[in-house]
Amino acid sequence: MSELNNLPDGFNALVVGATGGLGAALAARLAQESRLGRLYVSGRDAAAAGRVADEAATDRVQPLVMDVTEETSIEAAAARIRAEAGRLHLLVNCAGVLHDGAGLAPEKRWEDITPQALEQGFRVNAFGHVLVAKHCLGLMRHGDTAVLANVSARIGSIEDNGLGGWYTYRAAKAAQNQFTRTLAVECGRRARNVICVALHPGTTDTPLSKPFQGRVPAGKLFTPGYSAGCLLDVIGGLTARDNGSFLAWGGQRIPW
Ligand SMILES: NC(=O)c1ccc[n+]([C@@H]2O[C@H](COP(=O)([O-])OP(=O)(O)OC[C@H]3O[C@@H](n4cnc5c(N)ncnc54)[C@H](OP(=O)(O)O)[C@@H]3O)[C@@H](O)[C@H]2O)c1
Repeated sequence: MSELNNLPDGFNALVVGATGGLGAALAARLAQESRLGRLYVSGRDAAAAGRVADEAATDRVQPLVMDVTEETSIEAAAARIRAEAGRLHLLVNCAGVLHDGAGLAPEKRWEDITPQALEQGFRVNAFGHVLVAKHCLGLMRHGDTAVLANVSARIGSIEDNGLGGWYTYRAAKAAQNQFTRTLAVECGRRARNVICVALHPGTTDTPLSKPFQGRVPAGKLFTPGYSAGCLLDVIGGLTARDNGSFLAWGGQRIPW
C-alpha cells in the first residue's frame, strides 16, 4: 500500500481518465487507502466510469462523466465535486491519446503529419490537462497539502529527444509539460499548498502502448498495477520543493 502521508486524513481525490489502463489501476489502489475520503473516477463514457467505480465496491468511490475536450463537461464535473466534497487534495490526470484508429497515429516521417491528427492530439494531451486544472485548482487551494499530477511521458522531454518521430504525441506532451510548469509557477504565488508535477509512468501494458510493445525490451513493460503503485509512491513523497518537477515512476528527475 502506498503511503500518501503528505495528504490529510479523509483526503479527496479525482482520477481523470480512470477508464484507461493506468487510470483504472490508480483508482483501484486509491480506493483501498484507509485514509481516503471520496474518490471520483472520470471517463468520457458514463457506463465505463460506472464500471470502474463498481469495481471498488465502496460508495466512497463515485463515477463522473468528463470529456477533457469539452470545457462544459469539465466545468460540470468540477461543480459536482464542489457541491458534494467541497475540496480536492489529489488530482491525477491520466487522459491521453497516442492513436485513435481514426487518423491519429505516431508519425514516422514529416510527410505523415496532418492538421487533424495534430489538433486531436493537442486537444486531449495538452489542452485537456490545462483546462482540467483551470476548473479544479479552485477546489485544491485550501489549508492542506494538495497534489496536481499530470501524467505525461518521457517522450515529451525536448532535451531527451534523440530518436525523433511521433511528432504529435511528443509535441503535445511537451506542451502539456509547459502548461504543468506554468501552473506550478502560478501555484507558487496563489496556491502555495498545491504541488504541481508532471509524471512519467514508464512503458505500461495498456491499450495506448499495445501496438508498440514489440520494441520494448524484456522486463521493461510494466503492468498497470505496478506503474500505479510507483506513481502513488512518488506522489506520497512529494514536498513543496518538488512543485514544478517532471518525475519518472522511480522518482528520478527528467529534464524538461
Ligand atoms: N502506457 C504507456 O506506456 C504510457 C507511457 C507514458 C505515458 N503514458 C501516459 O499515461 C496516461 C494514461 O495512459 P494509458 O496508458 O492508461 O492509456 P489508455 O489505457 O489508452 O487510457 C487513456 C485514457 O485517456 C482517456 N481519454 C482519451 N481521450 C479523452 C478525452 N477526450 N477526455 C477524457 N479522457 C480521455 C481514455 O478514456 P476512454 O476510456 O474514454 O477512451 C482513457 O481513460 C496517458 O496520458 C499516456 O499518455 C502512458
